[in-house]
Amino acid sequence: MRLNNKVAIITGAANGIGYAAAERFIEEGAVVFIADYDNDAGNAAAQHLGEKATFIQVDVANRGSVKQLVATVIEQVGCIDILVNNAGITRDAMLTKMTEDQFQQVLDVNLTGVFHCTQEVIPHMVAAGGGKIINTSSVSGVYGNVGQTNYAATKAAIVGMTKTWAKELGRKGINVNAVAPGFTETDMVKKMPENILTQMRSIVPLQRLGTPRDIANAYLFLASDEASYVHGHTLHVDGAIMM
Ligand code: CAA
Ligand code: NAI
Repeated sequence: MRLNNKVAIITGAANGIGYAAAERFIEEGAVVFIADYDNDAGNAAAQHLGEKATFIQVDVANRGSVKQLVATVIEQVGCIDILVNNAGITRDAMLTKMTEDQFQQVLDVNLTGVFHCTQEVIPHMVAAGGGKIINTSSVSGVYGNVGQTNYAATKAAIVGMTKTWAKELGRKGINVNAVAPGFTETDMVKKMPENILTQMRSIVPLQRLGTPRDIANAYLFLASDEASYVHGHTLHVDGAIMM
C-alpha cells in the first residue's frame, strides 16, 4: 500500500484521468475526495469507488467554491496529504477565430483553478509539515498544438508554476511536480475531429493513445514516498509523441 490512509483531493475526478487516479489511489490505500463540477458523474463515481471515496461538487474557477471544498475536507478528516490539480477543459479554435470567451474560460479553469486549489490547500500542508502537489500539464503546453492557443498557454504556465512552487514550498516539506500527458482516451479527445486524432495516434512511436490508467500511475508515483526527491519536475507520459 503506497498511500496507506493518505488523504487526497483530486480535482476533475468524476471522469477520465481523474477518475482513474481516484481508483488507483484507493487501490493503494488512500482516502479520496472527488472534487468536480459534474454533479451526476461525481455522485456516480463516488458510489462506484466505495466508502473510501467522497464526492464534493466544486467549481475550481470559483474561489468561494474551493474554500468550501477545503473546509469540508478538513472538517471531515482533519488533513490533506495530496492535491492533484487535474480538472481541465478545452475550447479549441484557430487563433484567428478564437473568441474572448473561449480564451478566458480555459484560463479560468486550467490556470486560475490550479492557483485557487493550491493556495487554499497549502496552509494545511504547511501546518502538517508536508504534502504532495501534483499539477497537470499537457503535450500541448510543452510543444504547442494547432487550435489550442488558450489551452497550450495554460498548460505551459503549469510548468512554470510547478517550478516556482517547488522553490517556494520545498523548505516546508511539500513536493511539487507535474505530469504532462499525451493524447489520452477520455471525453476530452473524443471532441477532436477523427482525422486529426488518427494523425496524432500515427505519430506516437508506441502507436496508441494513452489510457487514463497510464496517467494515473504517474500521478501515483509522484504522490508516493518513492518520489520524495523528485521535485519541480514535469513528467512526460505521452508515448514519446514528440521528442
Ligand atoms: N496539424 C496541422 N494542421 C492542422 C491541424 C493539426 N493538428 N489541425 C487543423 N489543421 C489545419 C487544417 O488542416 C486546416 O488547413 P487548411 O486551411 O489548409 O484546410 C486548418 O488547420 C483549419 O482547420 P479546420 O478546417 O479544422 O478549422 P476549423 O476552424 O473548422 O477547426 C479546430 C479548427 C477547432 C482547431 C479543429 O481543427 C480541431 O478541433 N482540431 C484539433 C485540435 C486539437 O488537437 N485539440 C486537442 C484536444 S485533446 C486535448 O487538448 C488534450 C491534450 O492535452 C492533448
Ligand atoms: P475529462 O474531460 O474526461 O475530465 C475532466 C474533468 O474535469 C471532468 O470531470 C469535468 O467535469 C471536470 N471539470 C471541468 N471543469 C471543472 C471545474 N471548473 N471545476 C471542477 N471540475 C471541473 O478530461 P481528462 O482527459 O480526464 O483530463 C484531465 C486532465 O488531463 C485535464 O487537466 C486535461 O487538460 C489533462 N490532459 C488530458 C489529455 C487527454 O488527452 N485526455 C492530455 C493532456 C492533458
